[in-house]
Amino acid sequence: MIKPHGSTQLSPLFVDDDGKRAALIEEAKSLPSQLLSSAGAGNAVMLGAGYFNPLNGFMNRADALSVSEKMHTVDGLFWPTPVMSLVENNTASAGDRIALLDPNVEGNPAIAIMQVEAVEQMSEADMEQIAEQVYRTTDEEHPGVAELMEQGRTLLSGPIEVLNFSYFEIDFAETFQTAEEIRQEIEQAGWKKVVAFQTRNPMHLAHEELCRIAMQRVEADGCVIHMLLGKLKPGDIPADVRDAAIRKMAELYFPANTVKISGYGFDMLYAGPREAVLHAVFRQNMGATHFIIGRDHAGVGDYYGDFDAQSIFDEDVPEGALEIEIFRADHTAWSNKLNKVVMMREAPDHSKEDFVLLSGTKVREMLGNGIAPPAEFSRPEVAQILMDYYQSLS
Ligand code: ADX
Repeated sequence: MIKPHGSTQLSPLFVDDDGKRAALIEEAKSLPSQLLSSAGAGNAVMLGAGYFNPLNGFMNRADALSVSEKMHTVDGLFWPTPVMSLVENNTASAGDRIALLDPNVEGNPAIAIMQVEAVEQMSEADMEQIAEQVYRTTDEEHPGVAELMEQGRTLLSGPIEVLNFSYFEIDFAETFQTAEEIRQEIEQAGWKKVVAFQTRNPMHLAHEELCRIAMQRVEADGCVIHMLLGKLKPGDIPADVRDAAIRKMAELYFPANTVKISGYGFDMLYAGPREAVLHAVFRQNMGATHFIIGRDHAGVGDYYGDFDAQSIFDEDVPEGALEIEIFRADHTAWSNKLNKVVMMREAPDHSKEDFVLLSGTKVREMLGNGIAPPAEFSRPEVAQILMDYYQSLS
């Protein structure tokens, strides 16, 4: 099986032993505490679930700036984005043992215990550097940059022990999985080549076919559709609706035991190319051998070029930094000439009019009005779930 990133064994930071975990939960009640930001809590979940292997906790300022600038920690580990705990109203000092509280769960229970190694102030210049290098913009209209800048300026760093998986294990009991659990399922299924598909949207026909095309071309045994379960910008489809739509599609249109539906607990960064690299790292950690990156992967607005999230792997990811292979997909759509979904670059003698192309805005408008997009764009059963959702809003 493919090795995790940066180590031979996956070392999730969740405390697996029930007795030890119960003791830590008890201890957390008497420790000084610090409320995390939602992004910080998401990082704790990813660290706990093994997706952020081999990190052992939150990065300090030097590492956060180093990965932003050159995608390597100070010690030389390849890592694409800062994994930070940026807080407000800090009272902790280096050497303290503290409980990190979850802002996303009622009553703010402890999500992790941290051995504080450093407490550092981030300057505005530090924050702007991170925004510029990771998000390629300091524009606060960018939802990921806005989320970054809204956090506190005190950086707490040090190793953590994770006590739970926040609301994800409760609200998405069937879909949320750790990297370790996915590895085990891949092993049990006997899959050798495994394609991972990232998504934060419901899957229309082009996405479904993209998975099928990738599986055929790399001769994969299976595909893990791995959806983001955390926070999104306003207007994006909530995870439970998307989950239902994706499950319906897989049940109806893929042979049994070729596709797994799974999810991870993390807020969307909308960091385009850098987020694509992070996505690849944690898909390797969950045991996928191939990762699909298509058009405008993890993008938002016009901040990134359509294929920047592919070219970063050619330009900035050093040879051998990752074992997982990238399946680079071109813009995929239904061709009226060929009567099937194709990658546009593989459809000669086509003009734009030969493809069924609908903008996200147009599709939302149709679904909101109870009009199903054409069968060349959406499976009717998927469209129905989305129409029901939009109608429930009005
Ligand atoms: S993302 O933010 O999670 O990347 P989305 O769920 O829309 O957004 O996309 C999931 C994956 O499908 C990404 O790799 C994206 O590049 C790819 N993708 C989405 N639509 C298309 C399309 N029409 N053609 C090619 N790739 C696409």
